[in-house]
Amino acid sequence: MHTSHAALVLAAGKGTRMYSDKPKVLMELLGEPMLRYVFLALAPVFGEAVWTVTGHGAEQVRKAFTATPELTDKFILQEVQLGTGHALQTAWPALKAAGVERLAVVNGDTPLLPTKRLQEFLKQSENADLAFMTLRLDDPGAFGRVTRKDGKVRAIVEAKDFVPDRDGEVTGEINAGIYAVNMTTVEPLLGLLTNANKSGEFYITDLVALAVEQGLRVEGVECGDDPHLLGVNSPNELIRAENLLREKITSDWLEKGVLIHSPESVRIGPDVELAPGTELFGPCELYGETRTTASAQILSHTWIMDSLLEEDCVIRPFSHLENAQVGPGCIVGPFARLRPGALLEENARVGNFVEMKQAVLKAGAKASHLTYLGDAEVGPGANIGAGTITCNYDGKHKHTTTIGKGAFIGSNTALVAPVTVGDGALVGAGSVITRDVPPHTLAVARGKQKNLPRKGES
Ligand code: UD1
Ligand code: CA
Repeated sequence: MHTSHAALVLAAGKGTRMYSDKPKVLMELLGEPMLRYVFLALAPVFGEAVWTVTGHGAEQVRKAFTATPELTDKFILQEVQLGTGHALQTAWPALKAAGVERLAVVNGDTPLLPTKRLQEFLKQSENADLAFMTLRLDDPGAFGRVTRKDGKVRAIVEAKDFVPDRDGEVTGEINAGIYAVNMTTVEPLLGLLTNANKSGEFYITDLVALAVEQGLRVEGVECGDDPHLLGVNSPNELIRAENLLREKITSDWLEKGVLIHSPESVRIGPDVELAPGTELFGPCELYGETRTTASAQILSHTWIMDSLLEEDCVIRPFSHLENAQVGPGCIVGPFARLRPGALLEENARVGNFVEMKQAVLKAGAKASHLTYLGDAEVGPGANIGAGTITCNYDGKHKHTTTIGKGAFIGSNTALVAPVTVGDGALVGAGSVITRDVPPHTLAVARGKQKNLPRKGES
């Protein structure tokens, strides 16, 4: 698309109806902020030509998008949020300086905006000076009402300001908050906006009546009742949007050959990648950059973030994985916790109540019960007994535990790091290991058992 085409996202509002301290555009759908979905919808059409007005919680919003400097470079601060019209006025100089001629304005609280629909709208409104998408709803609720005369758009009247006798009938046609603006012909209208309304705000929607008065070409492009175009203002509307998105994502993966049992209880984030042949059992949640390769199995009640699951691995119920890597044929859980840096090589096993952090289980190694492995490397085929703890933290620093190939750590052992247990070594149950154990030796470090006569008994 020509560089004179750009998009402006309005994202400075507080989101009062969300009752949250978080800026509304950072409220999440499937683990990603609302605003990110708007950016994803705009990218195919506008590339990097996307400006964003931020205001309420601007620093927080910027922080959430540090990974995309091409977007944050074009964040424009609206210090006080005097309305959507004021947001447009605030952004105008930057857009003009960039040579933008045709501008799409998008409310930042419309996360499900379909790219295809937007493209159609821009095409349909190519020749208009000012155009906007409209929807027909049974209940126009708090949306801006579109009024027409003889089929031609007259104005958008905000719900609060609507007076039936003056403004005409309620037709159920509402403003979706997506606009196409000819920067040259609309510019003279910007200064004519006033805040003489119930909210005391400068409304972008007032440009419509102004443009009609000036004889400009104004078009309300009817888009049916597509719920993807509805703004999100309340918890109810957020969850409705999230459910639509969730259903779409799960049905897309089913379509691509991922077997999803009870899909209505499965939550998959937009950046997750699943190989055909992966099998999921709801309820479960997969977020961030989680990826699977063929035939990984994810059982119910699991929560998985930014993790790689390789072929034929099984994540059993109630496991919690974050930034973990599970190799081919591994079995994890039930009730396992893999924290960032947990790495299981092929056929390794982690059982119930085992926590791993920054730790590697090499091929075929096992930690089946009640264990903490932090800052540790466990050699191939080693066996970690129940209740083994790597004592990796001395109160100031973290230290490493290294366990050799085929080593056997008896139950209830504390390995006080830094410490190394050599290949093929055996550690007796209940030991507190503070010194290295050479390969192929037996280490026992616990009080010797004494059997004494019981007092009072002869
Ligand atoms: C707006 C429209 C309404 C339309 C609806 C569609 C106006 C006056 N009304 O109403 O006709 O039916 O969207 O969803 O525009 N914002 C700023 N700066 C501000 C105020 C708002 O950037 O000073 C941003 C908000 O962050 C939000 C967007 O503009 O993303 C829309 O604002 P919001 O308050 O949600 O407007 P609505 O009342 O929903
Ligand atoms: Ca809104």
